[in-house]
Amino acid sequence: MKLWGGRFEKETSALVEDFHSSISFDQRMYKQDIKGSIAHARMLGDKEIIRPEEAKQIIEGLENILKEIESGQVQFEIGAEDIHMNIEKLLTEKIGSAGKKLHTGRSRNDQVAVDFRLYIREETDAIKDLLGQLISALLDIAEEHVKTWMPGYTHLQKAQPITLAHHLLAYVQMFLRDMGRIEDTRKRLNVSPLGSGALAATTFSLDREAVAVELGFAGVTLNSLDGVSDRDFALEFLGAASIIMMHLSRLCEEIIIWSSGEFGFIVLDDGFSTGSSIMPQKKNPDVAELMRGKTGRVYGDLVALLTVMKGLPLAYNKDMQEDKESVFDAIDTVKKSLIVMEPMLRTMQVQKEKMYLEAKAGFTNATDLADYLAKKNVPFREAHEIVGRLVLECTRRGCGLEDLSIEELREVSGVFDPDLYEAIRIETCVNSRRITGGPAPETALEAIGLCRRILQAK
Ligand code: ARG
Repeated sequence: MKLWGGRFEKETSALVEDFHSSISFDQRMYKQDIKGSIAHARMLGDKEIIRPEEAKQIIEGLENILKEIESGQVQFEIGAEDIHMNIEKLLTEKIGSAGKKLHTGRSRNDQVAVDFRLYIREETDAIKDLLGQLISALLDIAEEHVKTWMPGYTHLQKAQPITLAHHLLAYVQMFLRDMGRIEDTRKRLNVSPLGSGALAATTFSLDREAVAVELGFAGVTLNSLDGVSDRDFALEFLGAASIIMMHLSRLCEEIIIWSSGEFGFIVLDDGFSTGSSIMPQKKNPDVAELMRGKTGRVYGDLVALLTVMKGLPLAYNKDMQEDKESVFDAIDTVKKSLIVMEPMLRTMQVQKEKMYLEAKAGFTNATDLADYLAKKNVPFREAHEIVGRLVLECTRRGCGLEDLSIEELREVSGVFDPDLYEAIRIETCVNSRRITGGPAPETALEAIGLCRRILQAK
């Protein structure tokens, strides 16, 4: 017999049981469902909407069901549809008629909304912690490499010299923003929809605020239709998760490029690489590739739910049950990715010499030579033209700008002095970019300190 079976004359088709039941995936919200029901029951008892002894029986029954689920004694039933009705059914089997009073003044529509908010709230906390651990790893590695010179790129063409620290600190900024987005998501989702009922609230004088306080919410939703039909919080979460994955994916892309023979900037640890079934020499960055690939599925989760929601009239519609698998998949994928990225970074070997060699190649000091002229009052546009011609000449000869003699340089511009050689050394190019946000080693160390303090305050 269904909990809603009163007005039905026939059994649900077995095909439909299989099609619409969500217990296979929403059972992971059992804890949140029980927590929400306990708070609701306690309030019903306190307000004497049900008898206080009944509330007590319900709460004890739910606490026991929680223990039984956690010790693996509970077999959920597909016929009971979802986690909400499975637990209500177990409760009634356990404590009898008092169990039938739990659903007073409540609907599964506000129940599922509260459970889902509680579930995502817990996961935002977990993801924030994982982001913090990844940021700490990036900061530790950056600190070791404030003088590890490397080429910086635009268009994947050598541009100007930077350091590995500076490069990694860019990712620190991205992941700090991700933390901010996760915190924002949590802030906005943290209101209780219980009391919205099915759609039109309830005639019982529930104490919504007391329930919200018990469940750790900062307040209550202010419109019952919105309370049951809002999934913005899930979408915001998926948006934040998608951006985290996008950042991880860009980092993966760099790891993949850097570990190629052609770049040779890093060697991944054996524990974070895999081999080939046919080519004996291979050591592949599969982990980074898979993470880059998994980014697509999290975007898919976001787009799936946006699409589910776009045409729904108010208020609850069963389409919304599709919210869970998307969100659960995104949670699992983001968490696993963050967990793997941290040790993969910490164990990679940095090939400093190769990075230095490449930092010096490809005229990465050309801008500094133009700046040198500009500082001696040559208009920058002219300086750019002069250095451009020198680069062309060096390209023909197969040498660097620093290999040109002072006499050759003076033929092009009289303002060159021998101090130019110092000005265009790779180390000087980096060391003189000291302004806030720049790559100079001491600037990077300050940035690392600041980011550590920001992280600690989170
Ligand atoms: N399993 C449903 C969901 O996840 C719970 C709410 C169902 N409400 C309803 N009236 N069918 O959305």
